[in-house]
Amino acid sequence: MVSVRPMQDRDLDAVVALHREVLDMEFLSRFGPRFLRSYYRAWISTPGAVALVALEDGVVVGGLLGASDPGRHVRAMVRDYGVTLALRQVGAALSDPRLARDLVATRAVRYARGLARLVASRWRQPANVVPSGPVIGEITHVLVAPRSQGRGVGRALVEGALAAIRATGVRRVELVTPPDLAARHFYERLGWRLTGEMASRSGEPFLRFVYDLDA
Ligand SMILES: CC(C)(COP(=O)(O)OP(=O)(O)OC[C@H]1O[C@@H](n2cnc3c(N)ncnc32)[C@H](O)[C@@H]1OP(=O)(O)O)[C@@H](O)C(=O)NCCC(=O)NCCS
Repeated sequence: MVSVRPMQDRDLDAVVALHREVLDMEFLSRFGPRFLRSYYRAWISTPGAVALVALEDGVVVGGLLGASDPGRHVRAMVRDYGVTLALRQVGAALSDPRLARDLVATRAVRYARGLARLVASRWRQPANVVPSGPVIGEITHVLVAPRSQGRGVGRALVEGALAAIRATGVRRVELVTPPDLAARHFYERLGWRLTGEMASRSGEPFLRFVYDLDA
């Protein structure tokens, strides 16, 4: 029997181990368990974020990260955890020259711009903040332990996230996923609409999916 609940501090060891097992090819995994632990903790504790775990017989067998308000979540994450996360990345890169090279080549400019925006926003008057369009929620990670895949755990996590996002009044959710993962069929099966392909700012290819909560 699968149950889904918000992720808590006590789940961190299990979700970090799961992330490294299931998404070992992902860039974030290369920064190691200390970075991932801080990353997941940041997700648990920032407003606008959605972090869930799935349990079978009380054991964590899946996790999901997303956001009901991605902009608010990212701003809070950078403000409250940016320094810790950056130090953990630099620490990992110092002992891994290939990681250091890839970090500089693919992320350095983006991270520097984010920091500059954050610093600038501290000086800006609230009156200068231009309201944008409706908030679009997002799902960024869904992972299920290999031994528990194919039993509805992923579906339970995604449905839990959609319910949490819908409860905030948001009506549309997006996600991107690498084209080579089985996730494509998974999201199609769950009723997500493939809206196109794109390349990330670091040049990696992604498929973009959308889910309209009114539909
Ligand atoms: C993709 C993933 C999250 C799916 O989780 P799961 O628990 O195995 O999926 P579920 O059992 O809930 O499947 C839900 C539906 O999707 C379908 N589905 C799942 N994986 C599928 C696949 N590889 N191919 C085709 N359909 C698939 C199932 O058949 C099921 O349909 P049904 O309910 O109509 O029978 C899981 O396989 C995983 O963690 N993969 C590795 C990490 C990853 O790719 N994450 C996504 C990108 S971040």
